[in-house]
Amino acid sequence: MLQTEEINQIRSSVDIVDVISGYLPLTQKGKNFFGVCPFHDDHSPSMSVSREKQIYTCFSCGATGNVFKFLMDYENITFPEAVQKVADKAGIAVDLHIKSHHVKTANQELYDIYDYALKCYQNHLNTESGQTAKEYLHDRNISDEVMKEFKIGYSFQKREQLTSMLRKKGYSDKDLLRSGLVIQNEYGYTDIYYDRIMFPLYDMNGRVVGFSGRIYKPGKDFKYINTKETEIFKKGELLYNYHRAKDIARQKNQVIVMEGFMDVIRAFTIDVKNAIATMGTAVTKEQALAIKKMAKEVILCFDGDQAGEKATYACSNELLAIGVVPKIVRLEENLDPDEYIQKYGKEQFERKLDQPMNVLDFKMLYYKHHRDLQNSMDLANYVNDMIEEVSKVEDEVLRELTLQKVADDSGLTVEFLKEKLEQKEKTVTLTTVKPKSSTRETKKMSKTEQAERNLIFYMLRSAEVIKMYQKKVAFMPTEEYRFLAREISFYYKAYHEMNEADFLTSIADKPKLMKTLGKISSLELKEDYTLEEIEDYIKAIQQYNIQYEIDRMKIRLKEEVDPMKKAKYAEKIVELKRKEEAI
Ligand code: UTP
Ligand code: MN
Repeated sequence: MLQTEEINQIRSSVDIVDVISGYLPLTQKGKNFFGVCPFHDDHSPSMSVSREKQIYTCFSCGATGNVFKFLMDYENITFPEAVQKVADKAGIAVDLHIKSHHVKTANQELYDIYDYALKCYQNHLNTESGQTAKEYLHDRNISDEVMKEFKIGYSFQKREQLTSMLRKKGYSDKDLLRSGLVIQNEYGYTDIYYDRIMFPLYDMNGRVVGFSGRIYKPGKDFKYINTKETEIFKKGELLYNYHRAKDIARQKNQVIVMEGFMDVIRAFTIDVKNAIATMGTAVTKEQALAIKKMAKEVILCFDGDQAGEKATYACSNELLAIGVVPKIVRLEENLDPDEYIQKYGKEQFERKLDQPMNVLDFKMLYYKHHRDLQNSMDLANYVNDMIEEVSKVEDEVLRELTLQKVADDSGLTVEFLKEKLEQKEKTVTLTTVKPKSSTRETKKMSKTEQAERNLIFYMLRSAEVIKMYQKKVAFMPTEEYRFLAREISFYYKAYHEMNEADFLTSIADKPKLMKTLGKISSLELKEDYTLEEIEDYIKAIQQYNIQYEIDRMKIRLKEEVDPMKKAKYAEKIVELKRKEEAI
């Protein structure tokens, strides 16, 4: 591992504003830059990035950190990986040997088992017994190169084959069962996958965490069988092809969301490489947040059938709820992207992608499909639904255009619809907007806690304040603040300067401290302070500590029977009170 100085040097060789703006649009307001926070369901720019301090802070969710922390959380990578990435960006030659130095985790056996199974399946596809499966893939126009790229394989025909191979490798029965590749039934331990085409499933970091196995001959069996969920494989968090697509999606600032992984694989063959798949399940909030991080433009290109329309509807709502306004592509003739590309070719499909529908036009279509607008009741529902949908979108032009169209459809005037919309938005604001968390917390918070918090806020900015803390505050009453203040003080003792961004590196592996720091960094306090203010904070803390001591002595005094000791306690209380007055 590198020395702290080297890590700090790597950190300061890039500008956090440049790095973050590679991921999300930032606009400058005064000294700072602002963007929509990718770490919570943010609609307006709550994240501030400071060029001066080289840190970011979200005023809404409290996420905070330096460039390493941003990359770790945004890309789901480890600290060494983030350091390597920044070094690469800055052109600094370091090799952290990230691959070989992977920390052995509790789930290492699972990763190893899947890696091994992957190799076995891949090899097996190229053997004599894999020929029929391979022909099936060829018939579907999947070339050998694509099979290699997506590491497609073929499981065994003998039901104990993988089980016995894994056992020979020394894995315990417990781990075999845990992996989900082996099950125990009346015949003993057997493979779950046999005679299926195998597609590995990857987590966000590109590690294999399971498989999906497809039948390739007509039969009654399920078309696909997915590995059961484990600690490292949660279906609701996984997006097929995420690790391969994320960099390209970021470059193009566009991600295409599909339903099936065959669709994604097909798109890849025509050089559309920024596609991912939800794998046929309803999109979860976690998945939506991951999609939001990939690119600004999100295009939903689900199957052309009714189920695909429903899925598009559900997914767009999940995205709208976190501030993403997706664009929609609908394919004709009930085709899925895989079939569409094969039938109409690359250019035609790209034309579809170049002319997506806006989400409100899609919603209009969707609601119309489910209603008969000749019927007044249906028409009224349609209008109300559309007003609701318009209220979810912030784009003024799009809102206006949609209201026009709904007016045309319904025969109502645009003015009437606008009034309805306004009413709706008023009630929404009244019922759903919560007071800002900072103001809410201030009310609940004791004077001491406020003082501790504010003092730390300025300790992060000024060596002078740290020194005052070191001299005058021996103890912060609130545990989380106490630990953080101590850490800052240690840092200052070690480096003789306070650099918030480097300090963040030093506590990156302490999630509790990071959380407290996030809370403090997102305080909306003015940047400069007066000495009186700092002294007031210190006084408030000292007073609390003395009062606490006095209370403790009073209890002892009350409980003590020995008059000598009683006198000592009383004396101590007087002394403390004097001290308190002197503050
Ligand atoms: P589809 O049925 O649309 O699959 O289901 P597909 O992509 O068109 O696959 P092919 O072309 O028939 O081979 C979409 C996704 O739903 C999941 C899979 O992840 C699939 O990619 N699915 C589907 C299952 O998990 N199990 C099933 O039995 C079917
Ligand atoms: Mn499909």
